Amino acid sequence: MDCNSLMRNVMKMGKDEFVQVLLDSGLKGRGGAGFPTGLKWKIVKETKSDIKYVICNADEGEPGTFKDREILDKSCDKVVWGMALAAYIVGAKEGYVYLRAEYKFLTTKLRIAIDNMDNHLRSLGINFKLNIAFGSGAYICGEETALLQSMEGYRGEPTNKPPYPVNFGYLGKPTVVNNVETFVNAMIIADIGSVEYKKLGTKASQGSKLFSVSGDCCKEGVFELEMGMTLQAFVDEFGDGDTKAVQVGGASGFCVPRKEFSKTIIGYEGIPTGGSMKVFNSSRSMYNILENYLTFFEEESCGQCTPCRVGTQQLLKGVRAVKRKEKPKSYLDELLKLADTMKYASKCGLGKSVGNAFKSIIENFREEIVY
Ligand SMILES: Cc1cc2nc3c(=O)[nH]c(=O)nc-3n(C[C@H](O)[C@H](O)[C@H](O)COP(=O)(O)O)c2cc1C
Ligand code: SF4
Repeated sequence: MDCNSLMRNVMKMGKDEFVQVLLDSGLKGRGGAGFPTGLKWKIVKETKSDIKYVICNADEGEPGTFKDREILDKSCDKVVWGMALAAYIVGAKEGYVYLRAEYKFLTTKLRIAIDNMDNHLRSLGINFKLNIAFGSGAYICGEETALLQSMEGYRGEPTNKPPYPVNFGYLGKPTVVNNVETFVNAMIIADIGSVEYKKLGTKASQGSKLFSVSGDCCKEGVFELEMGMTLQAFVDEFGDGDTKAVQVGGASGFCVPRKEFSKTIIGYEGIPTGGSMKVFNSSRSMYNILENYLTFFEEESCGQCTPCRVGTQQLLKGVRAVKRKEKPKSYLDELLKLADTMKYASKCGLGKSVGNAFKSIIENFREEIVY
C-alpha cells in the first residue's frame, strides 16, 4: 500500500466523496462499540470550528486483546496515514496517538513513521501535526471520554454523553476518536473502494477484522478473519478439540458455551467484539474465570458512580460467599438482578458491561459455581 499515492487519490476525489465511500463501505469502528466511521468523520467535518482534533485510541486494555499492539508494531505507517486522512477530511491540524503505558516500546517506531509521513504531507500541502500522548495504565482510559480527560490532565474518568467527542472533544473541540484498526481500515477502503471492501463479511458486519486469539488453542496470536463467521467455524480452526467455552469480546464480552457455538455469529448480528477471543477447554474452572474477571472490574472501576463502584464489589463478594457456602445457591439470582441494575444504572460502558460475562457464566455454568 503506497499511503502517499492513496492520499493524493483521495485529494483528487474530494472530501465529501470520500466520506460517501466510507459510509458505503459500512465500516464500523473496530474498538468495540461499532459506531459507523463514515458518520463519525462526517459529523466532525460538518461541525463548525477553527480547531479540531484526531485521536487514535491505542489504549488497548481489554483483557485478551493485543491486535492493536501487533498493528502498531508491524504497520504503524498505515495508522498514522489513516489519522492524516481523517484530519484532511474533517479539517483537523493536530492529532494524538494515545498510547497504552505498557506499549512505550513502540514509541520509536511511531516517531519514525510520523517523521516519514511529515515530509510527504508537506509536499502534499497538508498541515497536520501528530503527537504521542501516553496512558498511565488505567483500563477506563480506553473509554473515549475518560481518555480525553486523561489527555487534558484530569483524573481519567468518563464524562456524561452527550456531549459526544465529535461535538465537544479534546479541549472542548470537535474530535475524531478512532481505534488503531479503524484508521487502517479507512486506508484499506481508500485503496480498494467500498464495493471490494464489502465483498467480505455480512450485511451488518462488513469487511474482515483482526482477532486476538488466546487460551486453550491449537494456534494463538493475531489473525485476520471474515466478519460474520460462526463460533463453531472459529472453534474448528482454533480450538484444541476439547473447547468448553469461548469468551468473545474480552472480560466485558460474553461467555458462549459449546452448545451455542453453531448458532452464534461473530459480528453485529450476533456477538460483536473488539477482537478478543479467549478459548477455554474442559480443564478450566469457570468459577476461577468469573472470579478473575470480577476482580479485574472491581480494581478498574473508576469509582465515580455507585452502581458500578459498589456493584462490582458486591458481585465479587457474592460469588465468593456462594462458593464458600456462606450464602445459599439462590443468592446467585439476587446477584443476577444486581448485574441487570448495573447495566441500566451505570454511567459508562465499563459498569454496563460487567453483567455480560457475569450473566453468561452463571447462566451456562451454574453447576461449577455452586457444586
Ligand atoms: C471501559 C472501556 C474501555 C475501552 N477501551 C478501548 C480501547 O482500549 N481501545 C479502543 O479503541 N476503544 C476502547 N473503548 C471504546 C471507546 O470508548 C470508543 O468507542 C472507541 O475508541 C471509538 O473508536 P472506533 O469507533 O474506531 O471503535 C473502550 C470503551 C470502554 C467503555
Ligand atoms: S460505570 Fe464504573 S467506570 Fe464507568 S463511570 Fe461509573 S464507576 Fe466509573
